[in-house]
Amino acid sequence: MSRERRIGWVPQEYNEMSPEELAQRVSFAKSQLGDRLTILGHHYQRDEIIRFANYRGDSLELSRHAANTDSEFIVFCGVNFMAETAAVLCSPEQVVIQPVEEALCPMAEMAGRHQAESTYQALSTVWSDSVIPITYQNSTAEIKAFVGEQGGAVCTSSNARGLFEWAFDQGGRILFLPDEHLGTNTALDMGLPEEALGVWNPLHPPDPAEFADCRIVVWKGFCWVHTGFDVEDVAQARADHPDALVIVHPECPRPVVVASDLSGSTARIIQVVEQAPQGATVYVGTECHLVDRLNDEYPNKLVLPLSRRACGSMAMTQLKHLSYVLDGLLEGETRNVVSVPDDVARSARLALDKMLQIG
Ligand code: 13P
Ligand code: SF4
Repeated sequence: MSRERRIGWVPQEYNEMSPEELAQRVSFAKSQLGDRLTILGHHYQRDEIIRFANYRGDSLELSRHAANTDSEFIVFCGVNFMAETAAVLCSPEQVVIQPVEEALCPMAEMAGRHQAESTYQALSTVWSDSVIPITYQNSTAEIKAFVGEQGGAVCTSSNARGLFEWAFDQGGRILFLPDEHLGTNTALDMGLPEEALGVWNPLHPPDPAEFADCRIVVWKGFCWVHTGFDVEDVAQARADHPDALVIVHPECPRPVVVASDLSGSTARIIQVVEQAPQGATVYVGTECHLVDRLNDEYPNKLVLPLSRRACGSMAMTQLKHLSYVLDGLLEGETRNVVSVPDDVARSARLALDKMLQIG
């Protein structure tokens, strides 16, 4: 099989190395490269990766680190839209590397630029107010560029509400991409009535006239991990531990959010666990690598997954991939570089800068 067709390809010798040998190689490369290298690790990454990250964080925190670091090489352990964001935010002399290039977020791939353009145009014909597109950070650079060109903004699960308020303050109505659930949960939590919300299915584009009275239209995209939680999981958690607190990520469907005690971004989930009293039980509806790590880090609390759901794209990155790209840097070779065409990067940056300013 050719190199191109094999996901997460590394030379055979890396497949044969023990975890200890790979860990030693990564430590050695880090010590040799020093400040020239920054490794960023998303909270959903495997422990074997997180232990080598200079910074771990949610996608907003990692975007900020990417924008602020002076390192020559940024190795982004996460999924592709995050590495693309780093490439857009850092300077042209810096190089962004993704250890597994094929680690794509399926939700980000659910919205394409042409579909977004035609939806924007369709809504413009039925809305007298301006259409302000807002895209979740979990989207391709192409979508961020489209949003930037239309005067819109990026948001994350930490600041979606602030960005929605900003759009309404401009007197606009919102086209939100690509996550139906984050868009719905944010709008309803802000107190918008259900009639003000429409769901746009890009695979069967509806008659835009159906959305004439909506203040927000959300794209019918979703996360495989978070839509896997259901209200029965919450009921089971409450039956097993009646005093437990249940918190879920806002990418979960509305009924799950309503059945839970709280919903919040990755950063908020971590804060809630941190602030829970000693001896507390907290059920968390999000990716299980983060939940397991929280349970390990707070031994006096019981932190349990609402159900065990892993993100396959995040789990693709293993120590052998990190070692292979770092060894390349020691040998003067940049492997698995993530780049965004200049024109796309310029427009995407407008939308990202707006988030970093407003959100
Ligand atoms: P955060 O923005 O909270 O890091 O979430 C990223 C993500 O992929 C959630 O599924
Ligand atoms: Fe994408 Fe969901 Fe994985 Fe996050 S958890 S990277 S939204 S598939």
